[in-house]
Amino acid sequence: MFPLDTLPAALRHGQPLLWHNPGLRPAAAALTASGHGRAEIEAAIARWQRFAPLLARLFPGSVAADGRIDSPLLSQSDEHGKPLWVKADHALPITACIKARGGVYEVLCHAEELAQAAGLLHAGDNYALLADAPAHALFAQHRILVGSTGNLGYSVGVMARALGLGVEVHMSHDAKEWKKQRLRALGATVVEHAGDYALAVAAARNNAAADARAYFIDDESSLLLFFGYAAAAWDLAPQLAAAGLRPTPEQPLRVYLPCGVGGAPGGVAFGLKCLFGDAVQCVLVEPVASPCFLLRLATGDDALSVYDIGLDNRTVADGLAVPRASATVAGIVGPLIDAVITVSDASLLATVRQQWQQHGLRLEPSAAAGFVAHQLASEQWPGDIIPVVWTTGGNGLPDEVFLPLLAE
Ligand SMILES: Cc1ncc(COP(=O)(O)O)c(C=O)c1O
Repeated sequence: MFPLDTLPAALRHGQPLLWHNPGLRPAAAALTASGHGRAEIEAAIARWQRFAPLLARLFPGSVAADGRIDSPLLSQSDEHGKPLWVKADHALPITACIKARGGVYEVLCHAEELAQAAGLLHAGDNYALLADAPAHALFAQHRILVGSTGNLGYSVGVMARALGLGVEVHMSHDAKEWKKQRLRALGATVVEHAGDYALAVAAARNNAAADARAYFIDDESSLLLFFGYAAAAWDLAPQLAAAGLRPTPEQPLRVYLPCGVGGAPGGVAFGLKCLFGDAVQCVLVEPVASPCFLLRLATGDDALSVYDIGLDNRTVADGLAVPRASATVAGIVGPLIDAVITVSDASLLATVRQQWQQHGLRLEPSAAAGFVAHQLASEQWPGDIIPVVWTTGGNGLPDEVFLPLLAE
């Protein structure tokens, strides 16, 4: 058992902290040792491309005619007047959150498999046919289960319902009411749990096991989710080039990624290290009450939760309220994570307000984490870097949810 009293005091006391990962390894060695690589990401990109005509057909108001699910790279200045880049996944088409990159993607993987097995889809077909009546009738016989703090369930639910698949979303107590209502309005079954994220995922897993026509999307260990997220690095690279940014080990990209169970930030980090090697620093950002990935990296213990070090996992950043990190993701990306930063709820809310007032960005608290982390790192870990803050959700927040956040 890891001696927990040797963990940084700030971590145990729920105070903001910059933690450098002593397990960081050179990217090339860590990627080779991971047993995974570019081929899996390129397969995900190819699948996204096959599905582009279908996405454009199903979501004409949200997805551009080319069917791509991507967000802009915005430019800002930080509080020292230095350039700061924002990868704006809070404005991602379809669900306005990063979890769409994984959640929508895994629904598409499952739909492709079902349609091929039923003889409805063949190599070279235009995937837009999956919105036709025969495919819809096939999908209606199947259902997808998922456990979530909100955004994964929403992403899975929207995509699955658009195809005609049944959906059962198990929500933790953190999940926001408006996300549940939106899912119900789409025809999804929402099961509310009084417990946390880990309990909601376990309940979805159990229910799916009892139903031969059910498919479980496992936020804690799905590699399909992981490589769906990883493909985002291929979206960012040309945007950086277009902005004239060429990261090098001497002037690296530093990417701040809000982290819950670790799938989305871990996947993106993996993709970025594949593309940029040691010319990118990947920094995960967690709430002070839910630093599960930091805890996993610091101790190497998959079983530990933030409750074990006296934290309560209660945070305004509902998407990041996860007590135990994904063992699968930590096993793959542990040596690729440069640092973890923890941030307070008050700083998240202040940043939500500031980003709205100064830049018109509609962020949920989880999505503001990267800005807070960059502020802390500017003081404690300065350097010649190209900072990129990944804003992971928020554009879909209705006024009645967003405006009260500004007053908090
Ligand atoms: C807005 C937002 N940002 C970041 C994350 C973190 O993703 P993950 O839980 O895969 O680490 C989530 C997760 O739901 C989220 O909703």
